[in-house]
Amino acid sequence: MKNVLICGGAGYIGSHMVKLLAEAGYDVTTFDNLSTGHREAVKWGHWFEGDLLDTLSLEAVFRKTKFDAVIHFAARSLVGESMVRPSLYYQNNVVGTFNLLEKMVEHGVPSIVFSSTAAVYGEPQATPIHESHPTLPINPYGRTKAAVETMLRDYAAAYRLRSVSLRYFNAAGADPEGSIGESHQPETHLIPNVLRSLLETERVLQIFGDDYPTPDGTCVRDYIHVSDLCDAHLLALDYLDKNEGAYSFNLGNGQGFSILEVIRGAEEIVGKPIAYTLSPRRPGDPAVLVADSQRARSELRWRPRYTDIREIIETAWQWHRNPTY
Ligand SMILES: NC(=O)c1ccc[n+]([C@@H]2O[C@H](COP(=O)([O-])OP(=O)(O)OC[C@H]3O[C@@H](n4cnc5c(N)ncnc54)[C@H](O)[C@@H]3O)[C@@H](O)[C@H]2O)c1
Repeated sequence: MKNVLICGGAGYIGSHMVKLLAEAGYDVTTFDNLSTGHREAVKWGHWFEGDLLDTLSLEAVFRKTKFDAVIHFAARSLVGESMVRPSLYYQNNVVGTFNLLEKMVEHGVPSIVFSSTAAVYGEPQATPIHESHPTLPINPYGRTKAAVETMLRDYAAAYRLRSVSLRYFNAAGADPEGSIGESHQPETHLIPNVLRSLLETERVLQIFGDDYPTPDGTCVRDYIHVSDLCDAHLLALDYLDKNEGAYSFNLGNGQGFSILEVIRGAEEIVGKPIAYTLSPRRPGDPAVLVADSQRARSELRWRPRYTDIREIIETAWQWHRNPTY
């Protein structure tokens, strides 16, 4: 049985990964400092509370188990916060990952799958965005992720550490069985905010900009179901068994939906109108962000199952109606 360490396994995407791996018969250990994650979300495998910035806690987890691979979700990931407090981002995302990679090399752990992001591309020069698009991030969050990808290429060349960086577009939805879901504080993602505004009448949904060059004037994003993201990580683990080097793959549906389309979809599912207010555009929000995920399809043989935005919203709604954390 394969032993996999999940850094950030108490978070939104990480907890879904823990579930998938446990169900697929892997021996899973979650390592998390609970800064944004939830202990209740880790219902499978072993639990280890620790911080990537505390090398003693990292050493302890690596001593306890001989891991075959690491999946690394742990990061700070609020774009706005990264602009006003970049030091937190360089420390947690870059120094934290450096500490992790050092422990992997020291303990002979051969492979890592890393959560990267569409934010590494910056303002798109063409759409859909292919991996060959220049990486010119426009905020510190994106720059920390790009820095880690660079570090991973150097560690592959020098220490033969194998890696896959998965550049997610907009993760969305929840476990179709309803046992775990998305719960960020503060919540900056559209679908949970749309659904919360339906459940908490005092919350009014805010839309930033309706004058973008898109069909209805609102921003267009590529929403990918969290279960599809997790499938890609499982395939990436297999890929790294067979391939040396450092690789990057986009993960998206390849189809964009505008903010208003998401709102209309949620209204249909919930059967209630959604009230929102319009605010001016936020700096740094591109009009359209859509992935070209052909590379993940052909190399990893990844096939996203949730191609209909309504199905994605439906699973999120199932969770938000009855969240357990
Ligand atoms: N959610 C998205 O749409 C999205 C899109 C692109 C990329 N990503 C990336 O995917 C990853 C997971 O995102 P998420 O939405 O699940 O985030 P999340 O905040 O829900 O999960 C991150 C987890 O990492 C833990 N963590 C953070 N710093 C840590 C540290 N120093 N030591 C130990 N644990 C630490 C947190 O407690 C949390 O459980 C992140 O790296 C994020 O940047 C997410």
